[in-house]
Amino acid sequence: MDTPRKVEHQQTDRGYVPVYATGVVEQPWASYSQTDHEVWDTLFKRQRELLPGRACQEFLDGVERFGLGDGGIPKFADMNKVLGAATGWELVAVEGLLPDEVFFDHLAHRRFPVSWWIRKPDQLDYLSEPDLFHDMFGHVPLLLNPVFADYMQAYGRGGMKAFALGPDALMNLTRLYWYTVEFGLINTSEGMRIYGAGIVSSKGESIYCLDSPSPNRIGFGLERVMSTRYRIDTYQQTYFVIDSFEQLFEATHPDFTPIYAKLKQAPAHAAGDVLDGDRVFTRGDRVGWATNADT
Ligand code: PHE
Ligand code: FE
Repeated sequence: MDTPRKVEHQQTDRGYVPVYATGVVEQPWASYSQTDHEVWDTLFKRQRELLPGRACQEFLDGVERFGLGDGGIPKFADMNKVLGAATGWELVAVEGLLPDEVFFDHLAHRRFPVSWWIRKPDQLDYLSEPDLFHDMFGHVPLLLNPVFADYMQAYGRGGMKAFALGPDALMNLTRLYWYTVEFGLINTSEGMRIYGAGIVSSKGESIYCLDSPSPNRIGFGLERVMSTRYRIDTYQQTYFVIDSFEQLFEATHPDFTPIYAKLKQAPAHAAGDVLDGDRVFTRGDRVGWATNADT
C-alpha cells in the first residue's frame, strides 16, 4: 500500500473529491520484530494442527489457499491478490477497533479491517482486544467463500441501517455478529464444526466449544440470536449452530426494521437460557458458568 486508500468520490461544494477510508494505515511490515513473527508462527502452527476435524472445510481450505503458514506475519498486499481475485474483498490495516459506523462502512464496501499489530508472547492464550492473529487468521480465510463474503458485506450494509435506527437496533445486530461471525458453529455431514473467528483463533475455545459438556448448542434462529445476550469475559454459554452459509445468508435477507421494533417489546434472553422451541443439539450442564450479568 503506497498511498492512502482512495475509497470513493464524493460530491462537495467545491466539486468531486476523493474520500479516504477512516482508520486505515499502512501495514508497517518492516518494523515487525523477530518476536512478532515468532508469535505469529507459534499461534499459526498450534491452530493449524488443532483445527482439522474441528473447523469447517471452507475455513481450512481458505487457510491453505492463502498459504498463510509460509513463515512470519503475512503481508496484506500478498493476501489481497488472492482475496481480490476470489471474492473482491480487500484487507485494510487499522490500529484497532473502529467506531461502529466506520467498521460497517468498510464491510459494506468489501474491505475488512485487520489490526496490524500482534500480541506479545505472554498473551498467546488470551487478550482482550482483537490483534492481527485474531483478525487475519480468524476472519480472513472465510472471506474466500463467496456466500460468506456476501454475508459480510450485507452485514455491513445492515450495520449502517441499524446505526441510523439507534442503539437498540445496533445491539440486536451486534448479537448476530457475535453468535455467527465470531462464535458460530456449523452442522455438517461430517459433524459439528467451527466457523466463528473468535473460536478458531483461540486454542482453548476451539476445544471447549465442541468437547465441553458445559455450553448449550442450539440451532440458529434469527430472532433467537438477536435477542440473546452474550459473554465477553468467558467462553460462551451458548453456541448457535447453522446448517449452511446459505441458510445464514437467506435468514438475514429480510428487512430487519420491523424485527428490531418487535424485539424491543420483550426483554433479552440470558446467555445461557434454553427456551421452549429451541432446536437443542446439546443442553449445557452449566458447570463452571459465571453467574454475573451478561453483556
Ligand atoms: N437484512 C438486514 C437488514 O435489513 C441486513 C443484514 C443482512 C444484516 C445480513 C445482517 C446480515 O437490516
Ligand atoms: Fe473478530
